[in-house]
Amino acid sequence: MPQRHPVTALASLPPGSSQAFTIAGRHIAFFNVAGRIHAIDDTCPHAGAPLSQGRLEGCVVTCPWHAIRFDVTTGRRPGQSDDTLTSYPVFINGDQIEVEV
Ligand code: FES
Repeated sequence: MPQRHPVTALASLPPGSSQAFTIAGRHIAFFNVAGRIHAIDDTCPHAGAPLSQGRLEGCVVTCPWHAIRFDVTTGRRPGQSDDTLTSYPVFINGDQIEVEV
């Protein structure tokens, strides 16, 4: 059964930034897209790069190793249905980010 977990202070993830945390044993990347927080698996399915270290443009992150792009709001590659990453529900509780895992 999924549970909510505290992640970090909302202020520590300003718009346009990303950061990874290990939550309930999963490496999860958090992205702030224009003030809204999104969470997907941090590990690129191609060869394991940390997507939280990729370049974020709008809602699309580019993998830092071989440039595959993922929509951080869905975990999908834009225009494709393969290599879908798990996306996680995010909640804001006061000034804290929480994620359901
Ligand atoms: S590891 Fe991400 S594109 Fe290769």
